[in-house]
Amino acid sequence: MKKLVIATHNPGKLDEFRTLLAPLGCEVTSAGELGLPEPPETAPDFAGNARIKALAAAKASGLPALADDSGLCVAALNGQPGIYSARYAGDDYAGAFAKIIAAAKAKNSWAAWFTCALCLVRSDGSTATYIGEANGRIAPEPRGVAGFGYDPIFIPNGHEQSYAELGKLKEAISHRARAFEQIKAVLLAEVKAE
Ligand code: IMP
Repeated sequence: MKKLVIATHNPGKLDEFRTLLAPLGCEVTSAGELGLPEPPETAPDFAGNARIKALAAAKASGLPALADDSGLCVAALNGQPGIYSARYAGDDYAGAFAKIIAAAKAKNSWAAWFTCALCLVRSDGSTATYIGEANGRIAPEPRGVAGFGYDPIFIPNGHEQSYAELGKLKEAISHRARAFEQIKAVLLAEVKAE
């Protein structure tokens, strides 16, 4: 069975990928665990940054690599922070929540969406990229403790609880799960190949 490197240093993302990848039966490691450097994310969109991360991890490890670039887009902020989500919060997620909720309140505009781009670099160097989205709204205050990042302030459509309150259910319905659903067949072909 092939080994796959997840091109991330984010433990929250890695946990979700381990759950999603468990049924595929491949051996999973991560860029963080291998001590690989994080390449600068210089692309103007999620797909481009996922590709940069996957290619860098594949090159440095010699393994097929799967990268995720994702973020929260807020209508009241004209779609920001988007690809800048990690940088927008820095070490202060409570501060980022407060700024986003204040912007939504000021414009009475609560719509938001998460986007996830997944890029797989196969052993032969070829790439496949897929996008998943989840639409929803900003919660009027942070709720719940599960998950990571912006989970406490995002309520997906069709639910009354935030991602952080939904816990394991988030992993089945999220933007990441939706992108993963699309890439699963190519991933399976890659990890089963000799
Ligand atoms: P990236 O590692 O450059 O893709 O940054 C992604 C950032 O977007 C994370 O650090 C979080 O701030 C945010 N993010 C992406 N996916 C999620 C999620 O599933 N829940 C909460 N925040 C997320």
